[in-house]
Amino acid sequence: MLPHKFIEARLQAAVAAVLPGANLATVLVRPCPDAQFGDYQANALMALAKERKLNPRQLATEVLARLDVAGVCAPVTVAGAGFLNFRLLPEALNAALRAAARGEHHFFQPTAQPRTYVVDFSSPNVAKPMHIGHIRSTILGDALARLLRLLGHRVVTDNHIGDWGTQFGKLLVGWKTRLDAAALAADPIQEMERLYKTVHAAGEADPAVLEQARRELVQLQEGDAENLAIWRRMIELSQVQFDDIYSRLGVTFDHTYGESFYNSRLKSVVTELRDRGIAVESEGAMVVFSDGTRPPKEDPFLKQEAGEWKPNPALVQKSDGAANYTTTDLATLAFRWETWRPDVVLYVTDGRQQLHFQQLFAIHRRWRPEAAMQLEHVWFGSILGDDGKPYKTRSGEVVRLSDLLDEAAERAFQVVREKNPELPEAECRRIGRVVGLGAVKYADLLPNRQSDYVFSWDKMLAFNGNTIPYLLYAYARIRSIFRKAAAEAPVAAAAEPAAVAAVTPEEVALAKHLLRLDFVLAAVADDYRPNFLCAYLYELAGHFARFFENCPVLKASPAERASRLVLCDLTAGVLKQGLEILGIEVLEQM
Ligand code: ARG
Repeated sequence: MLPHKFIEARLQAAVAAVLPGANLATVLVRPCPDAQFGDYQANALMALAKERKLNPRQLATEVLARLDVAGVCAPVTVAGAGFLNFRLLPEALNAALRAAARGEHHFFQPTAQPRTYVVDFSSPNVAKPMHIGHIRSTILGDALARLLRLLGHRVVTDNHIGDWGTQFGKLLVGWKTRLDAAALAADPIQEMERLYKTVHAAGEADPAVLEQARRELVQLQEGDAENLAIWRRMIELSQVQFDDIYSRLGVTFDHTYGESFYNSRLKSVVTELRDRGIAVESEGAMVVFSDGTRPPKEDPFLKQEAGEWKPNPALVQKSDGAANYTTTDLATLAFRWETWRPDVVLYVTDGRQQLHFQQLFAIHRRWRPEAAMQLEHVWFGSILGDDGKPYKTRSGEVVRLSDLLDEAAERAFQVVREKNPELPEAECRRIGRVVGLGAVKYADLLPNRQSDYVFSWDKMLAFNGNTIPYLLYAYARIRSIFRKAAAEAPVAAAAEPAAVAAVTPEEVALAKHLLRLDFVLAAVADDYRPNFLCAYLYELAGHFARFFENCPVLKASPAERASRLVLCDLTAGVLKQGLEILGIEVLEQM
C-alpha cells in the first residue's frame, strides 16, 4: 500500500474510534504544502470539530492518542488550528520504493469507486477539413479517457461527428451540379469544401439556388434514395480523412454514432418537452424558457441587456419544424443514459459552446430528473498566432490538421538532425515524427485548458524548459545509463529491488516526488486538467537531473550503484507512464 494511503486508513480508524458515525470520506491525507512541516497533512479534523462544536485542537489530540502509524511516520504533531502533520520515516520511504521496484504499485492507486464515464470528444463535422480547432478536443479528450481507464473506471468514448444538418442542402446541390470527379478522387475533403463554398456564394447572389438547396435538404430528410446515397458517400469520404488523422495521433474511439444516429428520436423529444410544459411555442418555433429556479446570474435562460434580465430561451425546434443541435444533444443524452447508465458524461469542446451546454444540462435535468448523471462541459480556450488572433496559415486560412502534423514532423526532424549529425537520416525521421507529434500534443496539454495559448514551433521544440524534447531527452538519458551499465557488467545491469535506499537529499527528494504521482493523477481526474500532470513530469525531470548531477550512478560503490539504478528505473517508469497518459510515445534514444 502507498504510505499516504496507509496513513489515511489509520487516521480514519482513529477518527471512527473517537467520533463514531463521522463521515470518513472527508478524512483525507494530502501532501504538506510546506515540506518544512512534514510530508503529508490532514485538515479534516477542523471541519469535523466545527460541525460538532468541539475544540479542534482537543479533538486532534484525542485522535492522535488513537492513531497508530508507528514504523511509517515520525511522531505526529498537531499544528496551527488543528492540522495533523506527518513525516515519513526513511524506512517507510524505502519500503515504498522496494514495493514499486517489485512491481507491487506504480506510485498510484486505482480508484476504490469505479464509475462509468462517457467521454464525448473530437466530434468534427462531415465534408469539412479537420483543422487546428479540433486538435485540442481530440488531444484533451484522449488524455482524459486514458487516465480514467488507467485509474480503473469504465470509459466509453463517443465521437459525436456532425453528419446531419442544413449544410447538406447546399452540399447536395453542389454534388449534383458542380462535382469535379477528378478533384474528388484526389482530395475529397477539399472538393466537398469547394462545393459547399461555391453553392453558398451562388446562394448569396441568387435566391433560386437557396430554394434548390432547401428542396434537396427536404428530400434528404424525407429519405429520398439518391440523396441518402450521396449523403452516405460524403460521410464515408470524410471518415477516411478522420481515420487517417486519428491513426497518426494514436487516438481511438469506442463509438462514432454521430448526430444523424438520433434523427428518429428527435420528434418525440420535442413532443415530450411540450407535453411536460418544458418547451413552449414562440413565433412558430418551440423554445425553452427559464423555470425561475436559479438566481438570474446563474440562469442560462436569462441574459443581461441594458442592466435588465431578459429571456434567453433555448431553441429546440425551428419554425420550419426542423430540430437542431440542442434537440440532437438531448436525444443523445437520453440514449447514453439508456445504453450505458453513466455516472459522468464529459463534453470536450471549445469555450464558445458554454451557453449551449449550460442550457442543455438544465433542460435535461427538467426533462429526465431521474437520470442522475453528472454532466460536465470540459471546455478550452483558443490557439492563437503571434498576433494574438486565432492561429492561421500565412495566407490567412485555417490550418489543416494534416498539414500541421506534417510540419511538426519536418521541423522536429531538422532539430534532431542538427543535434545528432551522425545518425542516419531514416532514424532522424523516425525520431522526428515522435518528437513532432509529442510536441504538438504536449504544447496543447501544458497550459491550463481554459486559457488561450500562442502557438509557437520554436517554443514547443526547444530542448530547454517544459517541452517534449526536454522530457523525452530526460527519459532517453536514463535509458542510456542502463545501456552503459549493461555494456560494463551485463549481469548486474538489471535493477535489484531489494537494494534500493534513498539516502542523499537528492535521492530523498526524487523518491518523495515519485510518491506524489497518486495525488497528481487524482487531481487531473477531478478537475479534468492534464496540465497538472505536465507540471509534475517537468518537476520530476528536474529532481532527476539534480540527483544525477550529485549522485554518481555507474561509478558508485556496488551497493550504491545497485540502489541508484533502481531509482533511475523507477523514474523512467513514471516518466513513461505519465507521457503515455498524455498520449505521447517515448524514445529509447534521442
Ligand atoms: N460537432 C461539434 C463542433 O464541431 C462538436 C460536438 C460536440 N459534442 C456534442 N455532443 N455537442 O462544434
